[in-house]
Amino acid sequence: MQVSIAPSKALGGAIRLPGDKSISHRYAILSAIAEGTSTLKNFSSGADPHSSLGCMQAMGIEIETSDGEVKVHGRGLRGLRAPEGQLDAGNSGSTMRMLSGILAGQPFASTIFGDESLSRRPMKRIMTPLELMGARIEAVDGTYPPITIHGTRDLRAIHYQTPVASAQVKSCVLFAGLSCEGDTVVTEPLKTRDHSELALREFGAEIRTEGRMTTVTGGVELQARELYVPGDLSGAAFFLVAAMMSDEANVVLYDVGVNPSRTALIDFLVGGGGQVKVLDVRSAGGELVGDLRVRNSKFQGGVIEKGMTAALIDEIPVLAVLGATSEHGLTVRDASELRVKETDRIATVADNLRRMGIQIETAADGFHIPGKQTFRAAEVDSFGDHRIGMAFAVAGLVAEGGETIVNEAQAASVSFPEFFATLESIRT
Ligand code: S3P
Repeated sequence: MQVSIAPSKALGGAIRLPGDKSISHRYAILSAIAEGTSTLKNFSSGADPHSSLGCMQAMGIEIETSDGEVKVHGRGLRGLRAPEGQLDAGNSGSTMRMLSGILAGQPFASTIFGDESLSRRPMKRIMTPLELMGARIEAVDGTYPPITIHGTRDLRAIHYQTPVASAQVKSCVLFAGLSCEGDTVVTEPLKTRDHSELALREFGAEIRTEGRMTTVTGGVELQARELYVPGDLSGAAFFLVAAMMSDEANVVLYDVGVNPSRTALIDFLVGGGGQVKVLDVRSAGGELVGDLRVRNSKFQGGVIEKGMTAALIDEIPVLAVLGATSEHGLTVRDASELRVKETDRIATVADNLRRMGIQIETAADGFHIPGKQTFRAAEVDSFGDHRIGMAFAVAGLVAEGGETIVNEAQAASVSFPEFFATLESIRT
């Protein structure tokens, strides 16, 4: 599908985002292994969290979906049935990596596969700890999907230090820890998003965090819950940047997740001069929710490196777009993880920026984009990557010389099927 984006001088209005992708995955997986029926409100409309639901259904979990609300009839940690065929994770690395932690503790073998993009993403990072715990896992070339997990009821608790700062790896090990006797501990090099910890606590697990160390005690039955999924801050990022770059903008985003382990984005935008305000913060099932107001802003640009890179990793494509029109440009370092996302995001960002007449210098683990540049309308590609498609639709809003065409724009549906309609709704 091709979408054309006409330039826009002014943006205004109020919007809602789909339920957070990260949180939806965790609720989908944990509600299936809890006892009883959970109700998940504002569950993500994106294809990725629905891949997690689909895998649970394939293991005998009954799931009802209607209008943003999902009912999951959980059967307890011992209630999953061996799937008849292979489990389909679609485009979703989160599904494959986090679900593996549950499958490692099951008394059956299961295979998870994904689409072409997921088939190129490394799984060794979750295989290493799960093998230490006693599961046996096969993968293509020792790391690529499909992966086959030979689970065991005798999974052993470990203390694992994750070499990469990855919330998916941390979550995988903590989820595996639910099936172990005693305490499973994960220590991270940097604190990553803590949605799994909050979700585990909500479902009744015994979980403690001290600094970068998280401990879960196995053998505790999880209990069904009624939970609300906050709007996706990573989806909000596209609208925050679009409004900031616009000549005139006043946009409100309702009910957005503002978990402090995700809000580095807001700090970075505000720190560079972004007029973004968080209004009325409240709690929702362990998570925090707020309304955001954003106005057109002069952005200074900046440097993203070290811990900040990990905290902003999903937002870097759209921040690259903002960086090009900023006063001083944008430098990103320590971001080799970008090369193993849904696409190699250093390569795909650079390719699209250059098509739109923007200069960028790339390195193995980052890039530099000089500021004060002007986008020219062009034909760009999502390369099948949701965040690349959405980031360059935002660039199209400020491009000179006509309409920007986004090829393979349907990729947005992985996290935000309503993205293009929402974007059109705030043109004034
Ligand atoms: C996610 C963690 C991050 C992020 C991904 C979602 C999660 O990945 O990029 O979009 O939900 O835990 P890593 O764990 O690979 O850093």
